[in-house]
Amino acid sequence: MELSLKDKIAVVTGGRQGIGHCITETFLAAGASVVTCARDEAGLKVEVDKWRPRYGERIVGIRADVGQPQDVERLLAEASQRFGGVDVLVNNAATTESGTLASLSDAQWHKEFDVKLMAMIRTARAAVPLMLRRGGGSIININAIFARQPDVSFYASSVVRAGCLAFTKLLAKEYSGKGVRANAIGLGLVETPAWRTWHDPRKGSYEAFLGSTAEHYRVPIGRIAQPQEVGNVALFLASDAASYVTGTQLDVDGGMAAYL
Ligand SMILES: NC(=O)c1ccc[n+]([C@@H]2O[C@H](COP(=O)([O-])OP(=O)(O)OC[C@H]3O[C@@H](n4cnc5c(N)ncnc54)[C@H](OP(=O)(O)O)[C@@H]3O)[C@@H](O)[C@H]2O)c1
Repeated sequence: MELSLKDKIAVVTGGRQGIGHCITETFLAAGASVVTCARDEAGLKVEVDKWRPRYGERIVGIRADVGQPQDVERLLAEASQRFGGVDVLVNNAATTESGTLASLSDAQWHKEFDVKLMAMIRTARAAVPLMLRRGGGSIININAIFARQPDVSFYASSVVRAGCLAFTKLLAKEYSGKGVRANAIGLGLVETPAWRTWHDPRKGSYEAFLGSTAEHYRVPIGRIAQPQEVGNVALFLASDAASYVTGTQLDVDGGMAAYL
């Protein structure tokens, strides 16, 4: 089965690095035109310039902060103006606030809600009418298994991710009959540049850190995922091969989630 996105228009948030970068590249290779964004404009341009020789005008990168309503509007308007609409929306960009009940401030809680849940709501609100005009579409919300299995080490994220899952389900209930599918990808642990910042070299090598983290979280597959393992699932959900898949969270977690 070939998973093609030929002639599809996709918006992927957070394409400068990590999972969003991989999904952008995977979608481009599958034939889609992609509008992506990041806050670091210069850093994003470096990546877009690398894609340009191979994918030409099919890749557009703009500076946009998904926590800012006007930036989200600009992002979707860009897809509409450049390519004529949106078929696939991937809500990927986010940062994570660490802390617990005692240490997390109101500002940190608000940031979690803004860059994760509100970003999904705002992008979907702008994208759905564009998708309906083109006869349908696919919304993919990058989420985490902590949506269903809260973890004190990801305190605020666990709460917000549960909301992201509920929102995904609501989107599917409201729009699947009109051709817009909505799904979440429930991530466990994925090795991205963010992990380098969490590694303390005084406690051993980076590889040992990845291994011990997989062990600590009892990941049955025995290792942390690579971004392409998420990119492949995003491609499936974006494509017509997933035509009857909607309203679900597909976990890409190496078996880490404990729930049935
Ligand atoms: N990696 C994991 O183990 C893991 C596990 C569970 C869930 N997730 C989720 O997966 C998604 C991607 O994570 P990742 O590990 O790939 O992260 P990452 O390596 O830190 O990359 C994040 C990407 O999003 C962009 N970004 C961050 N905040 C943004 C904002 N407010 N507006 C626009 N762009 C923004 C970043 O570029 P700029 O910095 O230039 O803005 C970057 O391109 C996130 O939603 C994360 O919560 C990851």
